[in-house]
Amino acid sequence: MTPANPLEALPLAKMMRESLWAYPTVETIHIIGFAILVGSVVMFDLRVLGLSKNLSVRGLSRHLLPWSLAALVLIVPTGSLMFLAHANDFLANRTFQLKMGLLMLAGINAIVFRTGPYQTVEHWDVATRAPIAAQLSVAASILIWFSIIACGRFLAYT
Ligand code: HEM
Repeated sequence: MTPANPLEALPLAKMMRESLWAYPTVETIHIIGFAILVGSVVMFDLRVLGLSKNLSVRGLSRHLLPWSLAALVLIVPTGSLMFLAHANDFLANRTFQLKMGLLMLAGINAIVFRTGPYQTVEHWDVATRAPIAAQLSVAASILIWFSIIACGRFLAYT
């Protein structure tokens, strides 16, 4: 049968559909990637919300941000490979559309946080309450990332 979307005709897409091992292996790497990403992001967000107040926000950011960014190297190619395998179905899937929208929102929220409230971090680095704008942004971040995980899991059933 001819695939409905030209992307599904790519050799990589065919391999993802036909090999017994490819899809689950790629999906496992996807999961390792987002465990690192969401784990590091949420640990930082909880610190900004006031947990472990004696840890430097800047120090924690320097430690965790490279892990969050490096995790994208695992997540994006593996997500794209799984997408290629059934591009047509995913494009028409509301849960997939929502997941992509939420991913964009998470990126925008992170940029707004870094270019906004984080600019004054030297005033609330250690043992001081973060400004309300920072707290709202990281609370939204936790909610958005958890929703992205839910969308990913629901994709198999919707
Ligand atoms: C460019 C970014 C991404 C793309 C294109 C993408 C795409 C996909 C695709 C196509 C699947 C397979 C669904 C299925 O076979 O039923 C999947 C699974 C999943 N994704 Fe993503 N994804 C991306 C990023 C993320 C991120 C950042 C997270 C988490 C924060 C995430 C969480 C999940 C989860 C939880 C699953 C289900 C795993 C399972 O059921 O075993 N994805 N993703």
